[in-house]
Amino acid sequence: MAKSISLTRYLVEQQRVDGLIPSQLRLLLEVVARACKSISHAVNKGALGGVLGTATSENVQGEIQKKLDIIANEVLIEANEWGGHLAAMASEEMDGIYLVPNRYPQGEYLLLFDPLDGSSNIDVNVSIGTIFSVLKKPDDDRGVEEGDFLQPGTQQVAAGYCIYGPQTTLVLTVGDGVAMFTLDREQGSFVLTEENIRIPEDTKEFAINMSNMRHWDEPVKRYIDECLQGKEGPRGKDFNMRWIASMVADVHRILTRGGVFMYPWDKREPNKPGKLRLMYEANPMGWLVEQAGGAATNGKQRIMDIQPTQLHERVSVILGSKNEVERVTSYHSTI
Ligand code: AHG
Ligand code: MN
Ligand code: MN
Repeated sequence: MAKSISLTRYLVEQQRVDGLIPSQLRLLLEVVARACKSISHAVNKGALGGVLGTATSENVQGEIQKKLDIIANEVLIEANEWGGHLAAMASEEMDGIYLVPNRYPQGEYLLLFDPLDGSSNIDVNVSIGTIFSVLKKPDDDRGVEEGDFLQPGTQQVAAGYCIYGPQTTLVLTVGDGVAMFTLDREQGSFVLTEENIRIPEDTKEFAINMSNMRHWDEPVKRYIDECLQGKEGPRGKDFNMRWIASMVADVHRILTRGGVFMYPWDKREPNKPGKLRLMYEANPMGWLVEQAGGAATNGKQRIMDIQPTQLHERVSVILGSKNEVERVTSYHSTI
């Protein structure tokens, strides 16, 4: 039987053999994985752990926080603040950035996360996850400021997510393809279960919240309308639809068997570019998808090329199988 490769060994090999990641980044990723393991345990306990339900607070985006949003945020901060590899963190659940306290050594990395993605699915026992993105802080001696986080997705040095579903799976890129690690609960460690993930360039599956159809812009309406016409329509094939309402779960399906995911701008809140957040949802997912041979745009440009202007900036998202993403994107320039 082939020897199983733990996340630790995979990262050590990325560091030692391929020289792809410095030791500080390896340590950081190990700590993020440990935090995800702990969040996975809390998620699994569910009602027994008293973690279901709503908290009494709102986050900076005006969303009511779930208890697990707050727990996951705290787990990630407590795990990462003392190791010496980070300078600061930013999260969907915190208004501003979180500086590593003075009592701990300061590292050279910045960590961004959506501690719990798919919050509406927590209480109904549907897959949820943690999304993360790692940047380097500017190379100078001054303290870190919020502006230091405002780097385009192309500057990411690592990105990934951990999905808490029937299995807990950590999905990671450090710029050398996408690897998946399944949590072995008996061993207590993540074990490599897939490498060199590839997203098929074509697909017959789309994911979008159809209840917003009347609010969409023309290019998105046109694309979905053509899919819905099936074999008899201009696409000449029948399409299938999936919408899990957890981006992690929809992206995980796309990395596994292809598909296109869209959360486009819509007329409900015309002043916002979209619902999803650029820095800790779209950028890490965009990079993973690109690393697996897919594409990610906002309809007009590559997501990872967008220069962010705000920490909690929102963005329109179209990602997944390359040919479909290119098609939807091309409809934006022809209409
Ligand atoms: P979060 O739970 O972190 O706020 O993110 C939820 C996001 C994303 O995961 C999902 O694709 C989308 O919101 C679902 O939106 P709808 O409720 O409009 O379907
Ligand atoms: Mn989210
Ligand atoms: Mn969230």
